Amino acid sequence: MFDSGFGGLTVARALIDLMPNEDLVYVGDTGRYPYGPRDLGEVRDFALEITEHLLRNHDVKMVVVACNTASAAALDELKKITPVPVIGVIEPGAAALLGASRNGRVGVIGTVGTIGSGAYQRAVTQHNAGVELSCAACPGFVEFVERGETDSEQVHVLAERLLAPLVDADVDSLLLGCTHYPFLARTISDVMGRDVVLVDSADATAFCVSDLLREANALRGDTDRGGVHRFESSGDVEAFRALGRQLLGPELDEVVGLTWPESGN
Ligand code: DGL
Repeated sequence: MFDSGFGGLTVARALIDLMPNEDLVYVGDTGRYPYGPRDLGEVRDFALEITEHLLRNHDVKMVVVACNTASAAALDELKKITPVPVIGVIEPGAAALLGASRNGRVGVIGTVGTIGSGAYQRAVTQHNAGVELSCAACPGFVEFVERGETDSEQVHVLAERLLAPLVDADVDSLLLGCTHYPFLARTISDVMGRDVVLVDSADATAFCVSDLLREANALRGDTDRGGVHRFESSGDVEAFRALGRQLLGPELDEVVGLTWPESGN
């Protein structure tokens, strides 16, 4: 699985909890984060490069794109060219959002790349649920998370400004359409109000992964050892270990450095 940085750890947590016996390789592309403001073509190239690395060097049986921006940019292509199943976070997230709403007014927040791609607008339309969807990009949120600053006055001020259109739209459920945002859930909930249900794609994605593995007869059942969890980062390895461990938990013990020869990193 991969993300631009720490965000995908929200999905990793759900995967480890649901499937403790599975081995996991997590790539945090912190050397090239944030993905959100980049051209989608560039993000697509990063996603292809990381997937190639996971297949070649780790012989993975499935790839989880634990990043909305990369899912928006590359999921369709990855599904076509990758010899193992590839799962993104957008479709599971959209389904969870629709399941949570009572009044039919729903919201999605994400990076500039994700919201601008129209991927959520398409995913929600496909469900034909007749809901009113409001979307907002939240530039800056990811940078706060990557700095480990999830509860500061500054992030609160930014959230009040960026979330105002969704408060005005009176949504009753809000999808955190960027895997970094669950780390800001407290701030987002303070701004949106306690009645608004915050939905994230982590659990829904983990259930999709386990269903798919079960159908393919590839789920590791009870074994006498738990899964092995490996973490790799293209940025500062020590910084990834320190903050990653705080965000994910004790499974993140060691971090291996990565470089991307193709792009020169
Ligand atoms: N966590 C990622 C997402 O879900 C990307 C954040 C970023 O690098 O901008 O979109």
